[in-house]
Amino acid sequence: MEKLTKILQKDNLTKEDIVFLLSLEEPESIEMLRSYAYNIMRANVGEYVYLRGLIEFSNICVNDCYYCGIRKSNRNIKRYTLESDEILECARFAAQNGYGSIVLQSGERRDPQFIDYICRIIEEIKSTTKSENLPNGLGITLCVGEQTYATYKKFFEAGAHRYLLRIETTNPSLFARIHPADISFEKRMECLFYLKEIGFQVGTGVMIGLPTQTVEDLANDLWFFKELDADMIGMGPYIVHRDTPFNIYEKYFLENKRKIYLMSLKMIAVARILLKDVNIASTTALQALYPLGREEGLRFGANVVMPLLTPSSYRRNYILYDGKPCVDEFTNDCGECLISRIEKIHRPIGFDNWGDSLHFKKKH
Ligand code: 5AD
Repeated sequence: MEKLTKILQKDNLTKEDIVFLLSLEEPESIEMLRSYAYNIMRANVGEYVYLRGLIEFSNICVNDCYYCGIRKSNRNIKRYTLESDEILECARFAAQNGYGSIVLQSGERRDPQFIDYICRIIEEIKSTTKSENLPNGLGITLCVGEQTYATYKKFFEAGAHRYLLRIETTNPSLFARIHPADISFEKRMECLFYLKEIGFQVGTGVMIGLPTQTVEDLANDLWFFKELDADMIGMGPYIVHRDTPFNIYEKYFLENKRKIYLMSLKMIAVARILLKDVNIASTTALQALYPLGREEGLRFGANVVMPLLTPSSYRRNYILYDGKPCVDEFTNDCGECLISRIEKIHRPIGFDNWGDSLHFKKKH
């Protein structure tokens, strides 16, 4: 406890401090870390929770990542791409319900048709969602993977202003073990720098609890977020998907579920303490491990949630990991559920607000 208090009082954490914080196990110590992180959040970005409606508009993917349920070799899902009308309807729903922003996420594709399709959609969303409440239309975050500099630039010029690209892990040899040879760590890094240079608010993150991943790896991940000067963080537990080569880790995963869940919460808290004024998402994967996981993420210092807007009939084909919540085909409005969950923990919601990263705003 004494050591913990000392570390929390420091202005600058060292990597060793971070390892210490991530290794906390006593409930009282974890609670102390949580409440400290919460106060840092309150002082730097306030208690508002911002909503980003998540539209998983295509599950077609050229990649074959060993952990991911929509990898190209998975033949057990039906591949789809939403029509522009369907995407626009989701966007209108978001705007009308005060979400302020959406995330357009898909599997990875780099062909010109797809790139043009995305640009057109961004422009249409922008022009159709302008209103008194949203004079500049919905805020748009893209999450469509590795692209060329020119493509990123096109997306930016079309009107997207935030981009999420997870590094997945900053340990290059672990990165190489979870991806096929055609996906390179250096390329991923390069993409993050392109995005920054173009002027996006850049989000990155990692999976927590990957087989062989160590606490030191996770401390390095947090350190990297700081060095990259990331504006947004989205990270969550790694969860086995049965139709992937990594299903061999099911036993490891089940045995370590609670540990991975707690580590994910500690990662959010330490990210908040280290990075202070960035936006941090409480991800859906947390809720897959524990029904109140997303609320817990918010209590540990996160300030963004992403209600699922993907039309219900497509949801079962966009499952990255087993046990993904909200895929029930009768559940249409994840927003309503999530909003009442946020209200239950007494957090105000930033309706009709882009909820941009304050960290980014201070730099520009
Ligand atoms: N468990 C947890 N997260 C996963 N992702 C992909 N597959 C899994 C999984 N099995 C995450 C990756 C990716 C994001 C869109 O989803 O980190 O960047």
